[in-house]
Amino acid sequence: MSSVRHQIGLDVGALEARDTEDVVVGKEIIRHRLSSRVIHWLVADFFLLCAATGLPVFSPVFGWLGSLFGGLAVCRVVHPLAGLAFFASAAVMFRHWSQEMEMTAQERGWVGPKLLEYLRDEANHDQIGKYNGGQKVFFYTAALAALGFLGSGVVLWFPLTFPGVLRQIAILLHNLTFIAFFTSIVFHVYLATIAEPGTFNAMTRGTVSKAWARIHHPKWYRELTGSGK
Ligand code: HEM
Repeated sequence: MSSVRHQIGLDVGALEARDTEDVVVGKEIIRHRLSSRVIHWLVADFFLLCAATGLPVFSPVFGWLGSLFGGLAVCRVVHPLAGLAFFASAAVMFRHWSQEMEMTAQERGWVGPKLLEYLRDEANHDQIGKYNGGQKVFFYTAALAALGFLGSGVVLWFPLTFPGVLRQIAILLHNLTFIAFFTSIVFHVYLATIAEPGTFNAMTRGTVSKAWARIHHPKWYRELTGSGK
């Protein structure tokens, strides 16, 4: 079937990437099937919508952002609804990827003082599978952030239902979660684009080059290609 597609000039990698992943197709490797990519971009888009409608509520400095949505009153309505959509899509993403993101015993050993080495990809590079330790940590950070936003967000959505002290804690938690998570997203976007060329393709087209896989995820590359190196 694949060779027929080749002969009539179809983009085999992109076609196969609709419902398959972790397979070699010609010079490429399919990294994320269509469903993974759709879930990822839903989570990302809902998060950006939350940020764009939440920041104008947080401070007048971001009033210009609020104008894009029709003003502060609209932002106050859209923000919690976008928050629910973010949480729901993040929950689907968590379920979708949780098996692949399980930390190996060796990886767990790196969480703690040696985390920075892991985030810099310096820890036993040869043993890095489909996701490295930093990616796994980011995955769990996203899950924790989604919980933090939801828990504190519900209190702020219905303030009169909760005691004042809880409202104060919720404001602090909501803001701190945003600052911490937004910082990790800046790193995530940097790593997924400028820092590691060829990575963005994995989340758009679904494919990466064999060279990319060999350099960044050597164990995954060996498993898929059967190559010794
Ligand atoms: C808006 C800009 C974003 C870009 C350009 C982007 C890009 C990417 C790319 C290219 C990958 C695949 C990495 C790989 O296969 O090795 C990825 C994975 C992932 N993304 Fe994003 N992403 C963005 C936003 C987000 C947001 C807002 C979240 C969560 C709220 C998120 C969560 C994840 C997770 C959990 C993974 C899998 C683990 C990882 O590769 O780090 N992404 N992203």
